[in-house]
Amino acid sequence: MAKLRVGIVGASGYTGGELLRIFLHHPNAEVVQATSEHHAGRGVGTVHPNLRGRSSLSFSRRDALAPCDALFLCLPHGETAPAAEALLPMAGRVLDLSADFRLRDPAAYPRWYGFGHPRPDLLGRFVYGIPELHRDQIRSSRMVAVAGCNATAVILALHPLFAEGIAPSDGTVVEVKVGSSEGGAAFSVSSHHPERAHCLRSYRPTGHRHQAEIEQELAVRGPVRVHLSATAVDEVRGLLATAHVFPTRAVDEKEIWRLYRRAYGEEPFVRIVKGRDGNYRYPEPKVLWGTNTCEVGFELDAASGRLVVMAALDNLVKGGAGQAVQCFNLMHGFPEAAGLEFPGLHPV
Ligand SMILES: NC(=O)c1ccc[n+]([C@@H]2O[C@H](COP(=O)([O-])OP(=O)(O)OC[C@H]3O[C@@H](n4cnc5c(N)ncnc54)[C@H](OP(=O)(O)O)[C@@H]3O)[C@@H](O)[C@H]2O)c1
Repeated sequence: MAKLRVGIVGASGYTGGELLRIFLHHPNAEVVQATSEHHAGRGVGTVHPNLRGRSSLSFSRRDALAPCDALFLCLPHGETAPAAEALLPMAGRVLDLSADFRLRDPAAYPRWYGFGHPRPDLLGRFVYGIPELHRDQIRSSRMVAVAGCNATAVILALHPLFAEGIAPSDGTVVEVKVGSSEGGAAFSVSSHHPERAHCLRSYRPTGHRHQAEIEQELAVRGPVRVHLSATAVDEVRGLLATAHVFPTRAVDEKEIWRLYRRAYGEEPFVRIVKGRDGNYRYPEPKVLWGTNTCEVGFELDAASGRLVVMAALDNLVKGGAGQAVQCFNLMHGFPEAAGLEFPGLHPV
């Protein structure tokens, strides 16, 4: 059977580069067009050095985009929605990696993103892209708004507790520690190497934008508030979310184990990690570099009742391009893990 023809808009960025890499090994699809305004005409390997000699594709301009089977949009937030009219009809299926269509409430955009949404009519037409929560909807959808990286980790960590009513509707505190690639390929004063290297910097103690989608997706039993803080650490890839939950009733470790096993026991890309000993007894981002796996683990402090839930993932893969391909596979009826089998490296 002929391979599906895939296009990537914003392919010179980090998530676009990861999509190009993942599709090299996809049995059912190939990338036939990759746009960049700044690098049009140059081979994709000139920007993504890991693709040198592996891809003969060159970047093209967005206005040269031709219709294709599936289109991945990797533009900065605020850039996709205004271009929706031109982009969305270009393909049978569209997967947007930006935040422009993740929130269902148009009023959330001025509050969290600082712009009035130019296409509120489209918000209800995108399915939120976390397969572990919305697998059936994704299967039958034409358009997916792939979840944010921090949001994916926090939602996977906490969803079983909110679904069960064990986490309180207000009062859960989450800290995410993130690497520099989360900010994308464009550089700024804060990403300049002498400023970013060796940092352990509290950059969003309150008001992180992903809080909006986290609260939207965890509102299974009614509105919830989650208190999110973000800290930049001296890494390129990967993030670790640590959530402090004060359960609504007494729980024991067995019950929490049962809950997570029920939620994720059959999931191909969520691994429950809770060892008795050893370096890797809790989720750890570095062993997940390049993989589509999210690790989730927990520890219960029996004395105080505090439940600490941890989740780790690669922000560019399960937090971005990999999750997008997972959704793409579901939308097209391909095996969910197609192109996503890389198990990671050790040691790194
Ligand atoms: N980095 C992550 O960990 C991550 C994870 C999940 C989701 N996301 C989201 O996915 C989207 C892409 O992220 P990314 O990290 O791949 O971004 P990036 O590295 O900054 O790449 C952005 C791409 O968009 C193009 N572009 C078009 N208009 C632009 C503009 N006005 N300013 C800057 N670039 C523009 C850029 O190339 P040309 O200008 O040459 O066309 C580039 O190809 C973002 O919305 C981001 O929030 C990122």
